[in-house]
Amino acid sequence: MRIYSAIQPTGSIHLGNYVGAIMNWVKMQEEGECIYGIANYHALTAIKEPKKLEERVFEAALDLLACGLDPEKCSLFVQSHVPEVTELTWILSCCAPMGELNRMTQYKDKSAHMEIVNAGLFTYPVLMAADILLFKADTVPVGEDQLQHLEVARVFARRFNLMFGEVFPEPKPRLTKATRLMALNDPTKKMSKSVEGSAIMLSDPDSVILKHVKRAVTDAGPGAAQDQMSPGVANMFTLLKVFSAPETVKYFEEQYASGSLRYKELKDALGRDLVAALAPIRERRSELAAKPERIREILHESARRLRVIARQTIAEVREAAGLGVTPEF
Ligand code: TYM
Repeated sequence: MRIYSAIQPTGSIHLGNYVGAIMNWVKMQEEGECIYGIANYHALTAIKEPKKLEERVFEAALDLLACGLDPEKCSLFVQSHVPEVTELTWILSCCAPMGELNRMTQYKDKSAHMEIVNAGLFTYPVLMAADILLFKADTVPVGEDQLQHLEVARVFARRFNLMFGEVFPEPKPRLTKATRLMALNDPTKKMSKSVEGSAIMLSDPDSVILKHVKRAVTDAGPGAAQDQMSPGVANMFTLLKVFSAPETVKYFEEQYASGSLRYKELKDALGRDLVAALAPIRERRSELAAKPERIREILHESARRLRVIARQTIAEVREAAGLGVTPEF
């Protein structure tokens, strides 16, 4: 099994990324050949400051290694270090109807707030499909918000195979138990790095994590059904199931069922267990930050290995599409 996934280095990695995707990235290192990317070509659709983009890539590498990606068990690389992906993006975009891309909800949401929409944002899902297909991945661990993009990758694989002959497997998603974590301060919105104050960053100190949990919204808001768990409490239960012992989850579920759940008690337990889980990641992160050369070496070694696969796929794609081999000059 070949596993591929990536993250955009548009901000620090947050709890949503961790529970929705990265926990699976770590686990899946035991299941197959894992390739994980830091998608800086994708981030270029949003970040136009070169220094900032470079720093964010490095920070993302630190976060991911601190979460438990092991360079002995997976390839962690920077997307632009394997530039073959851009050639595949072009080829796939020639087989992509505009209407299909126009329907992407992330594109609609993001472009709605922009004065000038760059074409990269529109063709973003093509680059993402190319990312996955370049490595002929069959499984892609992602959060729920990426499922529509992944479906596009599946359609592109099928279409390319039909038009030009069998080259790509159809990649399947792998989801976690917390596939859509909501913001603690506004459980109607997804926890996201682009929404100010909505995310718990993996690098946040204990006090900040505890403050987020303490202030978590619990009431259901006006007009909500009283017999249903409010989105905020449901979100806290989602986290509890990831980070707390089964007995703790059972205890609070029973409290909820009997109508005697005390939010303070729930928040105290969740805060304690979150801090206990995230503190070691933060410690590993600061150890790793002291070795920038080693981080770069890990990223470069992966890219060297992956370019061999990338060139092989590109050669097959070129031949299949009638683009021929690149002549040696
Ligand atoms: P990105 O950088 O927005 O997010 C990285 C991963 O975190 C998941 N995620 C969440 N999961 C649960 N709850 C949340 N609140 C939450 N927020 C984020 C995302 O679903 C994702 O799995 N387009 C991708 C990056 C990408 C990619 C790829 C992914 C580029 N190429 C190829 C898979 C395969 C993105 O922007 O993810």
